[in-house]
Amino acid sequence: MAETTPTTKPSGLVLYVDDERGNRVVFEQSLKTEFNIICASDPETALDIMAKNDVAVLVTDMRMPTMNGEELLRIVKERSPQTIRMVITAYADVDPIIRAINEGLAVRYIIKPWIRTELVQVLRWATEAHVFSRSSAALHLRLIESERLATLGSFIGPVVHDLKTPLMSLLTNIEVVSELAEAAPVLRAALAQMRQPPANRDRLYQVIDDLEPVMADFRKSILHLNTMITSMRDLGKPGSETKGPLDTDPLPIVRHAMAVCQNLAMNVRAQIDYAGPGILPHVRMSATELTQVLINLVANGTQAVAARGTPNGKISIVAREQGGVLELAVRDDGVGMAADVLTRVGTPFFTTRAEGTGLGIAQCQRLVGTAGGRFKIESQVGVGTTVTITLPIAA
Ligand SMILES: Nc1ncnc2c1ncn2[C@@H]1O[C@H](COP(=O)(O)OP(=O)(O)O)[C@@H](O)[C@H]1O
Ligand SMILES: [Mg+2]
Repeated sequence: MAETTPTTKPSGLVLYVDDERGNRVVFEQSLKTEFNIICASDPETALDIMAKNDVAVLVTDMRMPTMNGEELLRIVKERSPQTIRMVITAYADVDPIIRAINEGLAVRYIIKPWIRTELVQVLRWATEAHVFSRSSAALHLRLIESERLATLGSFIGPVVHDLKTPLMSLLTNIEVVSELAEAAPVLRAALAQMRQPPANRDRLYQVIDDLEPVMADFRKSILHLNTMITSMRDLGKPGSETKGPLDTDPLPIVRHAMAVCQNLAMNVRAQIDYAGPGILPHVRMSATELTQVLINLVANGTQAVAARGTPNGKISIVAREQGGVLELAVRDDGVGMAADVLTRVGTPFFTTRAEGTGLGIAQCQRLVGTAGGRFKIESQVGVGTTVTITLPIAA
């Protein structure tokens, strides 16, 4: 049941879904001075509320008895794509988080127990992002929905390229064969002059009659193929849609990425730390995209340390400003990558992990590239890996 009724505040409505009453009370009490909060005790009630209200931000628990948070997120993504979706979870398992982030189900994960100041920051960002998305109807906020598509585009890019050559040859030849079809009346006249057994003559007439419609069909199919192949190729191009303001303070996102992977790190007695200035310049990339990049990189580092199994493993995020760009390096002393892995990493769907999707690095490279940044991986088996991204600083 809904326990509060929405009032109209300019910041937009924040809907919190959690089956534990205590959690709902704490959430509402500590945030209601800043945000317009409404709570629901289960996903069904949440969907009811969403059908009747314009919800700016959905914050959901993951484990609930009737429907889990992931299902709720999928439904909301479908029905109300402009709502900014976030998860609050005590989940120790990082893979479902990465999968959901890479599938665009949620843009942020808040780890329980949460800290009020951080949550306020994240909610402010989310409500602003929602306003932004609504104020630019043409650029309608598609957040990370489009990114899977774009990844697919970059994956099929080489295939599309290879298809283009035979297609061009077909397109040229079809014009020549079409001319042949246009000669049908001449062929018919010639056939009338020929001495042929009636069976042959009928057969030839049939072939000539078929020429024109078959060629027309053929031509249409080839043009259709051409359109399809061209649009497949365009999938991989950076879209014009935007993911929020291209001006982001990286530090809260660095901390957020560290928090998401904290559980996994603790389980293997590893440490995640940050080394760099306490204030960083804003970068020219949306918060959503930077979140996705950093979570993927820190998760990869943590998983590599976990896979190595050495105690006191370390994952460091090192930041430094240099020559008008911000350099962020994620360094780990995990398993490292062999030469053959290193050459293939970043190819969409390439993974060496049973639970992996092989989309992480591919997405990171694409997002950093689109932002005008650079992406570099250095790795050595048994020593560790450093992934360095450089991002342009926001004006
Ligand atoms: N920090 C790292 N250390 C060692 N190997 C890594 C690291 N990051 C990525 N890899 C390798 O690259 C592969 C692809 O990574 P990624 O694109 O993030 O997909 P996934 O994490 O789903 O496997 C991983 O399966 C792993 O083999
Ligand atoms: Mg990964």
